[in-house]
Amino acid sequence: MWTTLKAHHAAVSDRRFETMLDTGRAADFSATAGYMRLDYAKTNIDAEGRALLLDLLNQTGVAAKRDAMFTGDPINETEGRAVLHTALRNLDGGPVEVDGADVMPDVLATLARMGEFVEAVRSGAYAGQGGRITDVVNIGIGGSDLGPAMGVLAMAPYHDGPRCHFVSNVDPADIAQVLRSCDPTTTLVIVASKTFTTIETMTNARTARAWMSQKVTNVGAQFVALSTAADKTAEFGIDPSRVFGFEDWVGGRYSMWGPIGLSLMVAIGRDAFHAFLRGAQAMDVHFRNAEWSENLPALLAVVGIWHNQVCGYTTRAVLPYDNNLSRLPAYLQQLEMESNGKGVSMDGADLPVPSGPVVWGEPGTNGQHAFYQLIHQGTRVVPCEFLVAARGHEDALHHQHQLLVANCLAQSQALMKGRDLDEARSKVADKFEGDELERQARHRVFPGNRPSVTLAYPRLTPFVFGQLIALYEHRVFVEGVVLGLNSYDQWGVELGKELATALQPVVEGTQSAAGKDGSTVGLVDFLQAHGV
Ligand code: F6P
Repeated sequence: MWTTLKAHHAAVSDRRFETMLDTGRAADFSATAGYMRLDYAKTNIDAEGRALLLDLLNQTGVAAKRDAMFTGDPINETEGRAVLHTALRNLDGGPVEVDGADVMPDVLATLARMGEFVEAVRSGAYAGQGGRITDVVNIGIGGSDLGPAMGVLAMAPYHDGPRCHFVSNVDPADIAQVLRSCDPTTTLVIVASKTFTTIETMTNARTARAWMSQKVTNVGAQFVALSTAADKTAEFGIDPSRVFGFEDWVGGRYSMWGPIGLSLMVAIGRDAFHAFLRGAQAMDVHFRNAEWSENLPALLAVVGIWHNQVCGYTTRAVLPYDNNLSRLPAYLQQLEMESNGKGVSMDGADLPVPSGPVVWGEPGTNGQHAFYQLIHQGTRVVPCEFLVAARGHEDALHHQHQLLVANCLAQSQALMKGRDLDEARSKVADKFEGDELERQARHRVFPGNRPSVTLAYPRLTPFVFGQLIALYEHRVFVEGVVLGLNSYDQWGVELGKELATALQPVVEGTQSAAGKDGSTVGLVDFLQAHGV
């Protein structure tokens, strides 16, 4: 299947896709779901290429795998688990069974408990020793941090609860800075860890407990745990009434819809959080029912596959023209790269094509004044994904928003059109002549023909935000199925954890570095000489 696609690419790769772009193509190469529109007309995918790409989905059984995911089959085969983050937002759906038992009553009961707790925090009915909660500190890392941290920023216009802080790094600079800004008597600490064993999180949680115990008598009363490990949360001293549990069929990077989203719920309130879930649920329904040719997650996935596995473009830039989505690229880095950054297929064979792309990005327009130079004139092609809202939340400054939108549209146009030598010459013909004109003009040439997609939506409300994140989750799912890998394990993070544990006594000086590699010994010597 890859051979046909690569042959098709070879046949069309010299074509300038701008020449195909009339209004018919613009309509044909875009699709909508709910409030969201995906435009992928500014790519070199034509009708034949799209048919081949969509056929990949049929050949690799994406529909059957999708249905297996939604119905609780153990599609995470290397860990023998179901993959059911979709159950966390199945507000109006029917039963979802895992091993013959409906998980929905527990899911809905936990959501209701979260809502009650959150509203008590927000109203002041639940208070700290010093009174109403003013600050919430979420301690977690990876999926137990990136989702809610990104979400609280994304939902800033709806944030009317206590201040929320996020501590993830084991670097003491992270927690020290956050705790310095909080009063322990009015702070709620949320320890978010699926396993409740992650060394960074547990170390930071102990630091927070020590900090709070200097001023607060009953420290446990101001701690909450979000975890699948009830035994470990009890051991840490957190009362079961403030433990919000979930099951191992919720992957860390897919977990912001349930208890891991508690800090987001505290920030925006129960109703807005439910709207966020409903947006995701709407995208689930769309993903399950829309034809592939109209299916946003499927289309986004095949565009990604075309660029990465077929054209060989190794990275993807995510460029939100929506400042509140400033942490979306970081969130997507975990979602995409921890899910699809694997070299082995489900059956243990080597992957026949490259694994998922390197994902990176920054909000526009900031990126324009930093790395867009490379995107426009560098020798590598970087497919870009633009996100833009029709309206922001600052109605009084709508003229600025319009400028933002114009910049977003201009960038995808510039990437596509480029500027040829003739035009570049005409730009500087009044300043230079002869060889110098040629030299100066060449520096001003833009190759163009650089692909991008644009996701547009009316405004980043909680509902739209839910749609957007679920869209990305399902896109990663489709890409993973087509690549034939398991998007739901993460063995690649284990080796570093093991070696860090082994090196800790060496760094502390209680164990000799003898037997380690020369480079590590040299670095330990240097750091010890300087006081580590
Ligand atoms: O090390 C990777 C990882 O396991 C992620 O997959 C996960 O999101 C993160 O660590 C945090 O894990 P936990 O929620 O168990 O603390």
